[in-house]
Amino acid sequence: MDEVPPRRAAQLLRDARRVVVFTGAGISAESGVPTFRDDLTGLWARFDARRLATATAFHADPDLVWGWYEWRRTRVRQAEPNPGHRAIATIEARIPGTTVVTQNVDDLHERAGSRAAIHLHGSLFAPRCVAAAGHPFRSTPDGGPAPSPDGGRIPPPRCASCGALVRPGVVWFGEALPEAALTAAVEAAAACDVLLAVGTSGLVYPAAEIPRIAAGSGAAVVQVNPEPTPLDRVCAVNLRGAAAEVLPSLVGAAWEVARNG
Ligand code: OAD
Repeated sequence: MDEVPPRRAAQLLRDARRVVVFTGAGISAESGVPTFRDDLTGLWARFDARRLATATAFHADPDLVWGWYEWRRTRVRQAEPNPGHRAIATIEARIPGTTVVTQNVDDLHERAGSRAAIHLHGSLFAPRCVAAAGHPFRSTPDGGPAPSPDGGRIPPPRCASCGALVRPGVVWFGEALPEAALTAAVEAAAACDVLLAVGTSGLVYPAAEIPRIAAGSGAAVVQVNPEPTPLDRVCAVNLRGAAAEVLPSLVGAAWEVARNG
């Protein structure tokens, strides 16, 4: 384990002009939003991804899939950003050349003050219809009755423009990532000095390429995760711990270092 407070990581951050913060579900874990692959609490330990997170699943049982995503949307709406999200917003404020790239479909980066986070896997808050045009759907702020705790069935609404079913605005397994988002993320990764990878298992491609592209282009990759991941070997520094503790300590140390020269 690397030292905490993380002096080397703090120095790398202090000296960086261009930073990419690449986040996964672990950044939101301490806000009470479940991760995907953690053994007991992860969504994929409790739910079958093939029945919920593919286009085939939606067409087979739209009410089941829509209900499950409504349950997740409700959980996120009840959650608050944690000190890890806020530390990332502080990095952006201190280093203007910072790009936040997230695999998360929640809005906690935005609510913590991050501007223009790139969402590689879409958003729970951007439903659209299944027609090729993908008309955006504007849901009511309250979204009707609260979904059941385990994500019971709810029929999806119909598109006001074309009558097609409305689907969650997330990227499902087997679907392409939004092209503009992926291109912007790859360009930022290829040009950054430091990539901070926070709370991701690094297992899902093409998103998992992002830290590898940064490392391959000469950036220092700093990882924050309580567990080892396949990204360990591309990292200059591995900070083993929870994002809500490690990130504020990293930011504090970076600007402490700056003050002390
Ligand atoms: P995973 O659930 O695969 O991994 C979460 C990571 O967060 C793990 O490495 C945990 O060790 C780590 N973690 C847990 N608690 C943490 C904490 N408090 N602080 C920091 N790290 C913590 O989630 P992702 O890597 O985001 O895609 O998953 C990638 C994609 O797979 C998701 O975007 C989603 C999923 O299937 C789609 O739905 C397309």
